Amino acid sequence: MEKILITGGAGFIGSHVVRLFVTKYPNYHIFNLDKLTYAGNLANLKDIQDKSNYTFVKGDIVDAAFISDLFAKHDFVKVIHLAAESHVDRSISNPLEFVMTNVIGTVNLLNAAKTAWKNHYARHRFYHVSTDEVYGTLGETGMFTETTAYDPHSPYSASKASSDHFVRAYHDTFGLDVVISNCSNNYGSYHFPEKLIPLSIYNIKNNKSIPVYGKGENIRDWLFVEDHARAIDLILHQAKSGTTYNIGGHNEWTNIDLIRLLCNIMDKKLKRETGASAKLITFVKDRAGHDLRYAIDSSKLQKELGWTPSLQFEEGLERTVDWYLTNEEWLNNVTSGTYKTYYEEQYVKR
Ligand code: NAD
Ligand code: TYD
Repeated sequence: MEKILITGGAGFIGSHVVRLFVTKYPNYHIFNLDKLTYAGNLANLKDIQDKSNYTFVKGDIVDAAFISDLFAKHDFVKVIHLAAESHVDRSISNPLEFVMTNVIGTVNLLNAAKTAWKNHYARHRFYHVSTDEVYGTLGETGMFTETTAYDPHSPYSASKASSDHFVRAYHDTFGLDVVISNCSNNYGSYHFPEKLIPLSIYNIKNNKSIPVYGKGENIRDWLFVEDHARAIDLILHQAKSGTTYNIGGHNEWTNIDLIRLLCNIMDKKLKRETGASAKLITFVKDRAGHDLRYAIDSSKLQKELGWTPSLQFEEGLERTVDWYLTNEEWLNNVTSGTYKTYYEEQYVKR
């Protein structure tokens, strides 16, 4: 059985990747390495936790000795690296934490892979999962391609850009087999409710105000998380070493239009009067350094590997709302405890 290491598998996207690999590939043994920060939650993987080809390992990628021991103990054939601090607002409050996990943690993994895989790089692959935010911001036109120059603005995107550079450097300098993908904003189940879509669903459900930064004119390109996981599967198995792929939904929405759509869906699901949820929309102080627009050109992935998004946004969003309304216990669990402190600090100071 080939051993595959997935880092950050208890988080939002990681849990979907772990689920896909554990169920689709009985011949792979999936090791999920996660520190279980506030964003990591083993309840995200309840349905597959007892599978014989799945093992959870609790650990911190910043701990170099622990990581090199893990690589010495297991002959991981492939690594899919998702572990990261992922929320822009938190990176503004605490940039150093993002440098530690996103930069130092990634370099620790690269070093461990380089040492463990010495002289047989061809058998192995290091897949680094990154974001479109490394490219910075767009004006009203244009799209990010794989050759767009990096121009990050937030501590989060700066740390991800840095990690991408290190991954390429280990390919160019040491010959490590690497692939990188840069994906647009994901949405779907198990998304921690500090990000726009799950936060808005939670607040609408609980009749709390929906905080919209600035005028709500910023644009994001939204992709259903399971489509991202499918793209990762394809790229891991089919991409040439050293290549990069952009992944996106061709699905741009201003924040305010997206929230209005969500309010309409929630009105129907909660049997509220049309327009009732939209009354909760509250414009708040803008995010510092807020990127105006992201848009991804994913034609390389579509042409070379035949990937396309599977869902229309309205359908995906409705499925997502249904999931949060059905999984009330999950939502209540993750919004108790320290979440409350975070929420108070983030939104009262405006
Ligand atoms: P997430 O915050 O939901 O999950 C991150 C996971 O990493 C958590 O389970 C957390 O416990 C774990 N983790 C954090 N620090 C760790 C450490 N030091 N050691 C071990 N584990 C640690 O993030 P996500 O939204 O699932 O994003 C996953 C990856 O995808 C990230 O690398 C992110 O940059 C990238 N990405 C996210 C999006 C998006 O829209 N969410 C889009 C493109 C790319
Ligand atoms: P977010 O989900 O944090 O993802 P990212 O910053 O990585 O794109 O935010 C998506 C967009 O929604 C972004 O333009 C910021 C905005 N936003 C709000 O208007 N209100 C909120 O409470 C949050 C969390 C985000």
